Amino acid sequence: MAKFKKNILCIGAGYVGGPTMAVIAAKCPDYKVTVVDINKDRIKAWKTDNLPIYEPGLLEIVKKARGKNLFFSTDVEKEIKENEIIFVSVNTPTKTFGEGAGKAADLQYWEKTARNILKNSESDKIIIEKSTLPVRTAEAMERILNSGEKKIHFEVLSSPEFLAEGTAIKDLLNPDRVLVGSRETPGGIKARNEIVEIYANWIPKEKILTTNVWSSELSKLVANAFLAQRISSINAISALCEKTEADVDEISRAIGHDSRIGAKFLRPSIGFGGSCFKKDILNLSYIAESYGLHEVAEYWQNVIKLNDYQAARFVKNMLKSMFNTVAGKKIALFGFAFKANTGDTRETPALAVTKMLLEERAEIIITDPKALHEAKRDLADIKKGVTLEEDVYKAAKGSHAIAIMTEWDSYKTLDYEKIYKSMEKPAFIFDGRNILNHKKLYDIGFNVYPIGKTPLSHL
Ligand SMILES: NC(=O)c1ccc[n+]([C@@H]2O[C@H](COP(=O)([O-])OP(=O)(O)OC[C@H]3O[C@@H](n4cnc5c(N)ncnc54)[C@H](O)[C@@H]3O)[C@@H](O)[C@H]2O)c1
Repeated sequence: MAKFKKNILCIGAGYVGGPTMAVIAAKCPDYKVTVVDINKDRIKAWKTDNLPIYEPGLLEIVKKARGKNLFFSTDVEKEIKENEIIFVSVNTPTKTFGEGAGKAADLQYWEKTARNILKNSESDKIIIEKSTLPVRTAEAMERILNSGEKKIHFEVLSSPEFLAEGTAIKDLLNPDRVLVGSRETPGGIKARNEIVEIYANWIPKEKILTTNVWSSELSKLVANAFLAQRISSINAISALCEKTEADVDEISRAIGHDSRIGAKFLRPSIGFGGSCFKKDILNLSYIAESYGLHEVAEYWQNVIKLNDYQAARFVKNMLKSMFNTVAGKKIALFGFAFKANTGDTRETPALAVTKMLLEERAEIIITDPKALHEAKRDLADIKKGVTLEEDVYKAAKGSHAIAIMTEWDSYKTLDYEKIYKSMEKPAFIFDGRNILNHKKLYDIGFNVYPIGKTPLSHL
């Protein structure tokens, strides 16, 4: 058996664990990287070319390393024993029960992992939190790990992941920065250097930031809160634009040229989704609340409130433009993933829109190039009123309206003349992502309703 320079384990083979470890393995051929999970189906899929998650470029990277220095397994216990560096990348969703329900992070998966590590360790280990966790979780992890009778030293570090779904591989190969938080003790600094050494295989030293553990944990929550806040800010302005004939895209351009503001994350939309933004803001806000910082908690909660408002406002606009009723009308939703280039539908605004339209008794046809499988799962409880359709043209056929939910590139270049001809008249397009050529659609005959702009209506 080949001798590897380092053995690295990752517990949790999800959207973060899988791609992150695949990139480490590809960039560090002399390290052995193993990814474990309790989910047998997921691990099975990681061993095939039909990976459990979709990310551009992921399969190529996995194929490069799999079987050579990248391995997938369900034998969590054995791998804990055999590895000294353990990344923990299990899910940390919002709690749905008990104290802090709907706000705090549910740490049950993470705590089970900590106990499993303690039970199966026979030598000193470095444990790295990759999951997003409340600030000071490392302290709790240290307490659990040090509660055993074995004389083993566990050094707990934080190295949160900043990748974005849809561009995960690009982000991992060329990150803006990586963060490694550790204790300032000799043991902490030694462990930190070990982790920095891994990243330094492909990331320039000046992009590897080191901090104390608590700053590292909190930075991740703050990064997501700031990103989501920008989306809610521009969405708030989009509502004002629709009342004043200002154009939100022109505003984004005008303010984005200000180098103090910057141009990114200023695109108006039906709102943010994804597994992280809402959960991390709720978590941040819950932590603030628990320290008695009510104003801080409320400030961040408003980012989520505005996001919910934006989706509700979108549906209200649809209703109003379609003569105050959508009952019995066929509405095609183009896209169900929470954003383009991913099959992930967690917290997708498309689900909220679907539910609101169903309450109005519309008939919903959902199409998406990557997320129909997930959509089927998300909509399993809904027995009536929703159809899933792979073919985007068939989805639009006979419908009264199209609503763009996801900014897939393929939706920009469809044959909209053909689509228009196949639809009921008057035909409506509600562009929830502002990605289409509105003037062209209007000229074809559509009544076009963008976000944050004056509608182009023949009515
Ligand atoms: N998805 C993202 O874009 C993203 C980005 C940055 C950070 N994060 C954070 O990373 C963490 C993981 O997110 P994700 O999207 O990869 O989640 P995920 O749900 O896709 O994956 C988590 C995996 O952990 C496994 N798991 C749970 N308990 C386990 C246990 N005791 N032993 C072994 N495996 C176990 C689950 O089966 C699952 O496959 C979360 O804290 C999340 O907030 C996510």
